[in-house]
Amino acid sequence: MRGTPTVTALLASFLSFSHTLASEQQPFEFGEMSAPQYTLPPLPYAYDALEPHISSQIMELHHSKHHQTYITNLNNLLRTQAEAVHASDITAQVSVQQGIKFNAGGHINHSLFWQNLAPAGSPEAKSGAAPELVKEIEKVWGDEKTFKEAFNAALLGIQGSGWGWLVKVETGKEQRLAIVTTKDQDPVVGKGEVPVLGVDMWEHAYYLQYLNGKAAYVQNIWNVVNWKTAEERFLGSRADAFKVLKASI
Ligand SMILES: [Fe+2]
Repeated sequence: MRGTPTVTALLASFLSFSHTLASEQQPFEFGEMSAPQYTLPPLPYAYDALEPHISSQIMELHHSKHHQTYITNLNNLLRTQAEAVHASDITAQVSVQQGIKFNAGGHINHSLFWQNLAPAGSPEAKSGAAPELVKEIEKVWGDEKTFKEAFNAALLGIQGSGWGWLVKVETGKEQRLAIVTTKDQDPVVGKGEVPVLGVDMWEHAYYLQYLNGKAAYVQNIWNVVNWKTAEERFLGSRADAFKVLKASI
C-alpha cells in the first residue's frame, strides 16, 4: 500500500486533483455558481454478461447503486466547492476536498473497471487480444502465470477496501509496468501513470456471491478481464485511458 502523505502534501494533491477534474469540464459559471456534473456511464455489456464469474445481482447493485452514489456525492460536493470559491470561503473549500477526492476516485475507478471487464469466452477476454502488453508482461514477470500470481498476491494483500492496478509508468522516454494497490477509492492519477487494468477489492464487488471467498473472486476475475482494453491503455496515453470520464459528462 502506498505510504501516507503529509497533511500539506495531501491538501496540495486534493487541490490540484480537483483542478484537473474541473479543467476537463466546462468552466465554472460563477454567476450562477454552477459546477461540472457527471453522469453514470452505461455498462458496455448487460448486467448478467459476466455470469457465472460475477453475478448479475452484484453487477446491477455495483453499477446502478454504488457507482451512482459516488457520482451523486461528487456532483453535490463540486457544487458546494463552486459556491465556496465564489464566496472566497477558503475553509469551506478545504472542507470538501477529502470528499471530492473520495467520490471522484470512486467515479474514476469504477468507470475504468467496467471497461476492463468483458464476458468470459469473448475474444476480448483472451490474453491474445493484448499481444504487446503480454510481451511486456513476459519481459517483467517471465510469463503470464507468474504475473497473475503476483497480481493476485497484491490484491489479497490489501487490508480493508482498495484496488489493485497494473500501471504503465512513463518517465521521460522510459516506460515500465508495475503492480500497485490503492487504498479506499484513491485513483491512479499520478504523473506519468496510466492505469492499464484495475480490480475492485471492496467487499461490495464480490461479497454477495463469494462471501468470504475473496481468493476465489480474485481467481475468477481473470475469466472476465478485457485484454483488448488493457492493450489499448498500454499502447495509449493517459488521456486515452481517461476518455471514458469525458464521455460521461
Ligand atoms: Fe466498487
